[in-house]
Amino acid sequence: MKIFSGTANPLLAGHIASELGTTVSPLEIHVFPDGEKRIRILDAVLDENVCIVQPASPPVDQNYMELFLLVDAAKRSGAKSVTVICPYLGYERQDHIFRSGEAVSLAVIRTMLEAVGVDRLLIFDPHSIKIREIFRIPVVHLSALPLFAQEIRNHSWSISDTVLVTPDMGGIRRIKLLSNALNQMPYCVIKKNRDLETGEVTAEKIEGPIRKRAIIVDDMISSGKTIVTATNLLVKRGAKEVFVFATHPIFSQDAPKVLQNSVVQKIFVTNTVAVPKEKQFPKLTVLSVAEILAGELQK
Ligand code: R5P
Repeated sequence: MKIFSGTANPLLAGHIASELGTTVSPLEIHVFPDGEKRIRILDAVLDENVCIVQPASPPVDQNYMELFLLVDAAKRSGAKSVTVICPYLGYERQDHIFRSGEAVSLAVIRTMLEAVGVDRLLIFDPHSIKIREIFRIPVVHLSALPLFAQEIRNHSWSISDTVLVTPDMGGIRRIKLLSNALNQMPYCVIKKNRDLETGEVTAEKIEGPIRKRAIIVDDMISSGKTIVTATNLLVKRGAKEVFVFATHPIFSQDAPKVLQNSVVQKIFVTNTVAVPKEKQFPKLTVLSVAEILAGELQK
């Protein structure tokens, strides 16, 4: 198998390749003055299985376009199959029409990925449960939950003073899976609201127990508003320590600053999305999904 990487997360591609005892194959990505890109695969891929690593993280549209061009280049060069590792699938939050007149962004992404010729898609902790219904190509859902469970076990936190927290109803399935992996650690659910126009996040209700230590688990952190709102509510209701585990560190706007200045003790994320130096902060720990991805490619 030949592994190629777009520009969104070359470090992850390198780690996957080294887990597999190989290296990332060379590409030429030329950017024209107007921003358009010309992609050229430099290795022969005729009749080869090709894997392309490119999360659709910000700048989402640019990274998607680069991915489409990479797949097209591989197909036109005679690749036998193209597996795309898009661990963070941008636009998946808009998986249906919330208000009349809206586009279904995830359906558009599906159309594009299938049209350029992706044969198989590997993603991590999808936000949408509709992905398998929407896509016609095989989509492998991988999860960072085993990494999170191990990290939580490493802390030897007592089950009697710790509670897992989902900051919204959409995370119920995720929190139940993690609770099962941690000897039925108790969990609670925060009822969150997001104003569809302003993006403001509010939360006033928690269903389930509160303990001294709260561990918030989410699929992604974008603006950080969900985490900060959930943390403030948990502290108001009696939690003394708050830890956060989230798969995708999107970190838009001034999220790193907001999170570092919050009362959260530590934030664990994964490298599904690259965190550039300027977005790293002392409370942040990045766990690697490379081994999980390499294992999947070896199946
Ligand atoms: C929303 O339903 C997701 O699970 C995340 O909670 C959300 O996307 C995080 O976004 P932000 O950090 O902007 O609140």
